[in-house]
Amino acid sequence: MSQINTVAVLGAGTMGHGIAQVCAAVGCEVRMYGINEDAVASGLERVRGNLAKGMERGKVTEDERDGVLERLTTTTSIEDAVSSADLVVEAAPESMEIKTHIFGAVDSAAPPHAILASNTSSLSIAEIAAVVSDPSRFVGMHFFNPVHIMALVEVVWGHATSAATRDAAVAFARRLGKEPIVVKDAPGFASSRLGIVLGMEAIRMVEQGVASPEDIDKAMELGYRHPMGPLRLTDLVGLDVRLSIAEYLHKTLGSEAFAPPELLRRMVADGKLGKKTGQGFYSWND
Ligand SMILES: NC(=O)c1ccc[n+]([C@@H]2O[C@H](COP(=O)([O-])OP(=O)(O)OC[C@H]3O[C@@H](n4cnc5c(N)ncnc54)[C@H](O)[C@@H]3O)[C@@H](O)[C@H]2O)c1
Repeated sequence: MSQINTVAVLGAGTMGHGIAQVCAAVGCEVRMYGINEDAVASGLERVRGNLAKGMERGKVTEDERDGVLERLTTTTSIEDAVSSADLVVEAAPESMEIKTHIFGAVDSAAPPHAILASNTSSLSIAEIAAVVSDPSRFVGMHFFNPVHIMALVEVVWGHATSAATRDAAVAFARRLGKEPIVVKDAPGFASSRLGIVLGMEAIRMVEQGVASPEDIDKAMELGYRHPMGPLRLTDLVGLDVRLSIAEYLHKTLGSEAFAPPELLRRMVADGKLGKKTGQGFYSWND
C-alpha cells in the first residue's frame, strides 16, 4: 500500500471535524466534506476552537495550529473531496441508507488505490462495502469522541477486507498517535456492543426513578472507576446517534438489552440531543 498523504473526510459534525483535525496534524492534506456551507463552516470553527484550547494548555504551538489550518480545506462536493484521496474516512449519520448512498458516489470518484473507511459505530462493514466495486479496500475505522483526545481506534475487518487494507488502517491509526484494536465485523464491534447495553439500562433506570442521572453516573464513576458515567457519555455522543445504534443492535442481535427505552425516543423527538443542542440528561448551556 502506498503512503497516505491525502485524506478525504466525509462529514463535518462531531466526528468529522475531529478526524480531519488529527489527520492534518500529522501532515496530511485533508479535504473535509460537509452537506452544505453551514456544516463545513461549523466543522471548521470547531477545529479552530480545539486548536485554540490546545494552545491555551500548551499542547499545540502556533506553527502546529497554522499547519493544520493550512492543510485542511473544505468542500460541499463528495466528488471534489475524494478525487485525489489516498484514504477516505466517512463520518456521516449512522444510517445504512446514507452511508451506502455516499459510498456509491465515492466508488467512481476516488482513485482506485484509495482505502475506503467508515467511522460507523455499529453498522455492518460488509454491507456498506457491498456498494463499492472493490470491497477488499473497504475497512471500518471507528474513532472516539473527542477524536483529538481519545486514544482508541477500532479497526473493523469485514469478510471481504484484504489483509493489506486492514494493516494500512492499523498503521495509519498508529501514525495518528492512536491505539488501534482489530475487531471482527460483528454488530456494534467490541465497543458499542458493550457501551450501548450500559447506556440503555441507565436510561431505563432514570425512567423507573431508580436514581437521578447524576447519581447513576456517580455510581459508575466512583464505584466502577469509569472516567464518565453512561448518561453524561450519552449526552456527549448525542442521543440521536445512540438511538440509531441501539435500534440497529436490537434488530441485528435480537437481545432486549439493546431495546431503546421510551424516554430516549421522547427526548430525541423533543430535540434534546445532549451537548450539541444544549440539553440532554444534563443542561449544557453554560
Ligand atoms: N458522536 C460520537 O460520539 C460518535 C463516536 C464514534 C462514531 N460515531 C459515528 O460517526 C458517524 C457520524 O456521527 P457524528 O456524531 O459525527 O454525527 P453528526 O450528526 O455530528 O454529524 C454528521 C455529519 O454528516 C452530515 N450529513 C447529514 N446528512 C447527510 C447526508 N445525507 N449525506 C452526507 N452527510 C450528511 C452533517 O452535515 C454532519 O456534518 C456516525 O456513523 C456515528 O455513529 C459517532
